Amino acid sequence: MTDISTQEVEVVELVDDTPRPRGRARFQSSSSEPIVHFGLTTNPFADNVNPDFFFRTDAHEEAFILMKRAVEDDASMALCTALSGTGKTLLTQILLQDLDPDRHRTVLTLVYPDMSRTALLRDIMSELEIDPPSGRPSIHRLLSTIQQEIIRLYRQGQKLVLIIDEAHFLKPDAIHILRTLSNIEIPDKKLISVLLFGEDHFRVRLDRKHYRAVLNRMFIRTTLRPLRPEEVEQYIKFRCLMAGGRPDIFHTSAIEPITQITDGIPREINRLAHNALLIAARRGRDQVDADLIASITGPGSAR
Ligand SMILES: Nc1ncnc2c1ncn2[C@@H]1O[C@H](COP(=O)(O)OP(=O)(O)OP(=O)(O)O)[C@@H](O)[C@H]1O
Ligand SMILES: [Mg+2]
Repeated sequence: MTDISTQEVEVVELVDDTPRPRGRARFQSSSSEPIVHFGLTTNPFADNVNPDFFFRTDAHEEAFILMKRAVEDDASMALCTALSGTGKTLLTQILLQDLDPDRHRTVLTLVYPDMSRTALLRDIMSELEIDPPSGRPSIHRLLSTIQQEIIRLYRQGQKLVLIIDEAHFLKPDAIHILRTLSNIEIPDKKLISVLLFGEDHFRVRLDRKHYRAVLNRMFIRTTLRPLRPEEVEQYIKFRCLMAGGRPDIFHTSAIEPITQITDGIPREINRLAHNALLIAARRGRDQVDADLIASITGPGSAR
């Protein structure tokens, strides 16, 4: 990587119209690329779910522990709900990484709008690497094929952990299919745990009478919440550090506006912080402060 500490180059002003001395840049930099400009090894606010960047707030830690406990205590179903962008998919990845593969066969299924029962069961089979019965098998046959696999796994010492992400897209009949699947047990032993992750409105939906039998099976229910103001500051520092950067790339003055604009939702924080780094690098700034945030989020900006 280029050594930015020894190079002093002229920064091309693309956006900022603040008057400044011509010729020499105020901040030593070799690039308008944030990664180079801030001496990072990777993008700290990339729009992906990377378990290495997991910031353990109380709420995230508790949800993680409870969902893991659900598996270890042989709960047949467990539920984690939260607003979009608060870390549900990230938690599924952390569970995938954390559950002991010798004792668990962990399968992650992503539900999509209008996914049918058949598509759901076929998806689970494909993740389990088992062939569906030939022809156009009935739901019953698909279910019993999965059940046979669950029993085979049990005989080799593994329990099936089925992680369902975007569970709010499950149609009513698919929810009931999951309940049926989660019923497989032998005396004193559950052979499967179904962990559901979905948006808040899914929890509200499950309160309806129609789903009472399903909700009753969910002994463990947990939620995530947006970050508190003090957590937003720690979160930003943590991600900058994890990306190989200085913890003070974001000046303290930037934290309050970021918290207000994003409501503490990690995905929103990432988007705003990512844009702020881009603009700061283009402007040759060594820190993101409240003024910079205001300049990219104020009236007329495309935040
Ligand atoms: N505790 C956390 N630590 C680090 N990054 C987080 C945390 N929570 C969320 N993020 C990041 O925020 C972004 C959104 O998280 P994620 O995709 O897991 O949210 P979600 O709840 O699944 O959203 P949706 O309901 O829209 O699918 C991701 O980039 C993720 O890495
Ligand atoms: Mg998600």
